Amino acid sequence: MSSIAVELPSIDVPSPPAWPLIGHLPELATQQLDWVARTQGRLGDVFAARAGPQRIVMLSHPDHVRHVLVERRDVYTKGGTFWSAVRSLIGLGLPTSEGQTWRSRRRMMNPEFRRTRVAQMGDAMARTLADQFATWPAQPAAFDVARGVSRAAMAVIVQTMFGTGLTPEQSDEVGDALSFSLDHMLHKVVTDALPAWLPVPGRRAHQRAVARIDAVLYDLIAQRRAEGPSDDLLSMLLEMRDTDGSGLDDEALRDETMSLFLAGYETTAASVSWGIARLAADPTLYAPLVEEVDGVLGDRAPTAADVPALQATTRFFFETLRLDGPVYWLPRTAAQDDVIDGFRIEEGTMVALMLDRIHRHPSAWVEPDRFDPDRFLPERHAGRSPTAWIPFGAGQRQCIGKGFAVMEGTFLLAMLVQRFRFELLDDTRLVPQIGLTRRPRYGVKVRVVPRR
Ligand code: HEM
Repeated sequence: MSSIAVELPSIDVPSPPAWPLIGHLPELATQQLDWVARTQGRLGDVFAARAGPQRIVMLSHPDHVRHVLVERRDVYTKGGTFWSAVRSLIGLGLPTSEGQTWRSRRRMMNPEFRRTRVAQMGDAMARTLADQFATWPAQPAAFDVARGVSRAAMAVIVQTMFGTGLTPEQSDEVGDALSFSLDHMLHKVVTDALPAWLPVPGRRAHQRAVARIDAVLYDLIAQRRAEGPSDDLLSMLLEMRDTDGSGLDDEALRDETMSLFLAGYETTAASVSWGIARLAADPTLYAPLVEEVDGVLGDRAPTAADVPALQATTRFFFETLRLDGPVYWLPRTAAQDDVIDGFRIEEGTMVALMLDRIHRHPSAWVEPDRFDPDRFLPERHAGRSPTAWIPFGAGQRQCIGKGFAVMEGTFLLAMLVQRFRFELLDDTRLVPQIGLTRRPRYGVKVRVVPRR
């Protein structure tokens, strides 16, 4: 823990007028990120909101990222109600642990996520995706692409992690349970700050949802144990040893598995679903992707070696992550008094880096609301603040699966464009669901037209 004493200035973080007790909950519930954007416009890059009893200082400038996640990373911890809500689902896995436990786990897991290791998973990933897309409707009928991509991304994580598959029913069961819990967890941030004796709607249903996911995960773990080690992530977790020779006990194994499962499929699925929604809404975005995919791949499956040549596809994925990324905020709790941008932050304050705002900050982005994948062309990206685009976080807690996710996102988009064209229907509704992650509330129901 940093022991730098900070003398607090007298500038309080501004906050818009709030309702008694409930604070800004009505605005947050109904206008969500639009309210955050409007409030930033009125009050600036640092302001406080109140979700019921929970005060949150929202930070919207790329420089705040460096302060919170890099320079003062020991001050801003994963304590507080948000992270305890996440722990109710994934326990103490890599994303939620801290201190020595986190350091030793991260050290053990890093080699499994190195570029060369991830590249070895490329063929299995492409095979799994091809199998999934083969089941997509051949008729140009209404189809929920978000559900299809979600199943496909879950199949990839289960295949690469457990070396096995799930039935479509198991996949939907886990997907629905997880979606429920992800939404419920945002409520928990508010309700956990209320007295424990108050009955909270959804608490039991959340526990049941966790139990349903656990049942599937424990099955898969038992299957891997019975079949012996293989070339997958679960075998790696089973064989992992710290410098003192100790491995993971059963509880740690469950938490780590659940963490990778949650972090590894919902995020990628949500971002690619938004990407397909963009393609369906604006057919002019297709041309560069089709040209690239047909030129680089033709009819064959992608391999890891193709990723550097699929640049337009990767740029498209990056732009999707900028505007529609599943992680739209990164909350932390101040473990001691601090000053951010001249504003007083008291010990115990919950602060949140608002990725949705940072990814549109005018200091780094021209016409920030425009979807333009070419912003990521090297000549246009050079000179931009390295903390203006942080869909995978920053600093030492940056996403361990970033390389895996970029390969998978690129594969998913390339293989979908290779096979289909997507068209909006008159009644397609594209509305974000802001839960623990941001995903399409009503799915992405489009007409799927096979290309070949
Ligand atoms: C588009 C896909 C993804 C996005 C947007 C994403 C985003 C993030 C972000 C923002 C963090 C940092 C959280 C924080 O600082 O509080 C994170 C951490 C993490 N991610 Fe991802 N992620 C993605 C895919 C994946 C995949 C595919 C895996 C694994 C297979 C994964 C595993 C993890 C883990 C284990 C952590 C915790 C790392 C640590 O604390 O040391 N993620 N991710």
